[in-house]
Amino acid sequence: MDTTHFDLVVIGGGPGGYAAALYAASAGLQVAMVERDTVGGTCLNRGCIPAKELLETAAVVRTVKHAGDFGVVVEPKALDWTVTQGRKQAVIDKLVGGLGQLLKGRKVTVLNGTGTLGPSRTVEVVAATGERVTLTGDAVVLASGSVPRTIPGFEPGGAVVTSDEFFHIPQVPYRAVVIGGGAIGCEFASTLADLGSQVTILEALPKILPGCDDDVTRVVQQAFKKKGIDIRTGVAVTGHRRSPTGAGTGAGTGTVVEFGEGEEVECDLVVVSVGRRPLTEGLLRPGTLVGTGPRGHIEVDATCRTAEPGVWAVGDVIDSPQLAHVAFAEAIVAIKDLLGEDPAPVDDGKVPWAIYCHPEVAFAGYSEAAAKEAGYDVVTSRHRFAGNSRAQILGETDGLVKIIAERNEDGTGGRILGVHMVGPWVTEQLSGGYLAVNWEATVDEVAEFLQPHPSLTELFGESVLALTGRSLHG
Ligand code: NAI
Repeated sequence: MDTTHFDLVVIGGGPGGYAAALYAASAGLQVAMVERDTVGGTCLNRGCIPAKELLETAAVVRTVKHAGDFGVVVEPKALDWTVTQGRKQAVIDKLVGGLGQLLKGRKVTVLNGTGTLGPSRTVEVVAATGERVTLTGDAVVLASGSVPRTIPGFEPGGAVVTSDEFFHIPQVPYRAVVIGGGAIGCEFASTLADLGSQVTILEALPKILPGCDDDVTRVVQQAFKKKGIDIRTGVAVTGHRRSPTGAGTGAGTGTVVEFGEGEEVECDLVVVSVGRRPLTEGLLRPGTLVGTGPRGHIEVDATCRTAEPGVWAVGDVIDSPQLAHVAFAEAIVAIKDLLGEDPAPVDDGKVPWAIYCHPEVAFAGYSEAAAKEAGYDVVTSRHRFAGNSRAQILGETDGLVKIIAERNEDGTGGRILGVHMVGPWVTEQLSGGYLAVNWEATVDEVAEFLQPHPSLTELFGESVLALTGRSLHG
């Protein structure tokens, strides 16, 4: 085999790229994957994995804090941030190592460098050393991912960080301002508050977690207030300056963030989490038909084909939900498409969402407002974890499950349109709801299924059962 020619060349080694490489290799293709940094991309190195690992540290802090409720005396309580950071890095390293082994096991050629697509599916790879190699592929998958958006005047540096820098902060700040109350903002705010920081969220829209069902957002808002998080919505940040009084902890840079109509808040860390933008700089040489849209995403059709024959794009670089599991799914669609297998496209409106703040959020399908906006006549059922036995045993009773279904003529629920959860471990409980929404199952069908007792998932069963017009506990 000519070593510079492959069945498939993948640019980018994050979830989109490595999934494309692994899936294609498992289908028998000869694959090269180009990655300039560490395999695993944003997700493994500076996104999902470190964020959830630190959230788990926060969960341990909460458990220790409430150990006395169970009669368990734990003294003294302190956080050794070096150990915390070390554990987080060890989890990342193990996963990155495992991914490297998987790629090796499937004989994927991994090239360390920056890949640029030229005409006729040529990919030029430039290593950090300046060394160059040109590859050609029968097919190419572009999976260059995304980077944090910034706000003018809030570029990273000093006390200002994005998610890229957040995971390396030298200590837990005494006071933090989180700009943007989306998924990243809420996960960081939740982590910091549980670790002892005084946190303020500044969100431009009228509510945090703008994509979530209103009932879910309300629960998160109340729980965040209980943690002492100050949530300021409908406010724009206007600038920041060094604080004359210095940092609250005596280290770092005390900073005053200006927002709204002349308001300000003092802090030691400013976390900018206002979304992510697709990363296409240096990705494309002139001469290909690959096009980008108004917000910089690579334009693709339903099976992730770009306008250039034989070139697909997947993951955060295209305009779809910026979630690692969506990138996995798109990668499978792209590879099946290039194999001529006529795959079903990913339905962006029905993918599972999981936000790991405390309390956790998980949902699939329409929120109540979105279903009504789409013209559905709906009936909903809401059940709270406060009445669930397992939640009481855990001491985690904040939260609810909400089912949105089409209304039958007799007022009972028909097809399940959306399942929305907030509360303990809901990110691990969504699969039944996700299946119901994507299977286009009806309330009557799903109500037949048993849930173990006592379990948190009983609340999902109970919420569906209630829409049949009869119920047990709800
Ligand atoms: P996001 O788009 O989810 O939220 C950004 C928030 O910032 C929005 O609520 C927006 O209204 C607000 N905002 C924008 N400009 C602002 C300004 N100047 N001042 C104040 N607020 C402003 O983006 P986020 O949270 O940065 O996440 C990026 C992507 O990564 C998203 O697509 C997100 O869904 C995904 N992600 C998902 C996670 C999960 O599902 N667990 C975890 C982390 C990220």
